[in-house]
Amino acid sequence: MRTRLTELLAIEYPIVLPGMSWISTPELVAAVANAGGLGILASGPLTAEQTRTAIRRIRELTDKPFGIGVTLLMPGAKENAEVALQEQVPVINFSLGKGDWLVERAHQYGGKVIATVVTEKHALSAQAIGADALMVTGHEAAAHGGDVTSLVLVPAIAAKVTIPVIATGGFADGRGLLAALSLGADGIAMGSRLATSQESPLHANTKQAVIERSEQETIYSKNFDGIPARVMRTARSVKETRRPMNFFIASWQATRAAKLVNQPIWKVLVGMLAMVDKVKLLAYFGASVPRLKAATEQGDLDYGVQFIGQTQGLINDMPTVAEILQRTVEDAEQLHLQQQQIFQPSE
Ligand SMILES: Cc1cc2nc3c(=O)[nH]c(=O)nc-3n(C[C@H](O)[C@H](O)[C@H](O)COP(=O)(O)O)c2cc1C
Repeated sequence: MRTRLTELLAIEYPIVLPGMSWISTPELVAAVANAGGLGILASGPLTAEQTRTAIRRIRELTDKPFGIGVTLLMPGAKENAEVALQEQVPVINFSLGKGDWLVERAHQYGGKVIATVVTEKHALSAQAIGADALMVTGHEAAAHGGDVTSLVLVPAIAAKVTIPVIATGGFADGRGLLAALSLGADGIAMGSRLATSQESPLHANTKQAVIERSEQETIYSKNFDGIPARVMRTARSVKETRRPMNFFIASWQATRAAKLVNQPIWKVLVGMLAMVDKVKLLAYFGASVPRLKAATEQGDLDYGVQFIGQTQGLINDMPTVAEILQRTVEDAEQLHLQQQQIFQPSE
């Protein structure tokens, strides 16, 4: 397949594995790269040294292009981005922050930068600072999708920018790929779908829960990690998202969570002080970490809470990454051919 995205990133298929904490590991990133897509390493839970090791591990597993995701708001993200620049990672994907310095430095070695956005305003400013592509994330997405659904957000933004758009949130198969291309996108990112692949490190219990649950069984709430986020509907997540956040408890939990994400506590505290208006947000975000980790790593959905998209209702099996990519492209192609017949003049 050829789209502006495959040309820009020198990949075979316009399909992206987005950065997912504890899931988009070097092994899964390399599996996606070797299958012809773009894998993006999640650097959120990693220290700078772990990020360097992870980048080098990916390079041992594949000689294909790959990316790294940095959530600039989070403690440690700038240090991880610095490592990515030093290691000349081919693609840097940033979100929740100003990425102009990343664009400037990545372009110096020929790297590309993808900005994750959920509004037209942020899409236009990302394009203005020189981002090479946008990951436009709609309401259906796992974790932090925007208020507007992909069906509207993707064409609205694609019509206003000139850089390639990766439609994100709600895409899990060939129907989704063809629909995204029709909406003006140049490719798709699939988080929930690739998290439920054979190679994904998501715990087997949680993968099974994704397969069994429907598109109805997610919740979108800002009471979980402070930013509106979509999680799997379980007894625990209903309880967590109904409880308004208590700042003091969240702050205490955030400092505990710092240990889990291998960040020194002082960094979390300094980060909280440096961003007075974001203090609450950061505390809530940190407080969510133990529950996310429990669901992802231990398959514990009694204590844990799992980010998952509405595509949960489209995921009914657990193929390999290569099978997912191949069938997505083949199904899109087949569907495209069938649709051409709709427009044939009737005899
Ligand atoms: C299990 C899981 C974990 C995720 N973790 C993160 C994360 O740590 N940071 C982040 O920015 N997005 C995270 N996401 C969101 C993805 O980057 C992406 O936006 C989303 O999966 C797209 O929607 P989809 O699941 O419908 O494909 C996660 C998604 C899933 C499914």
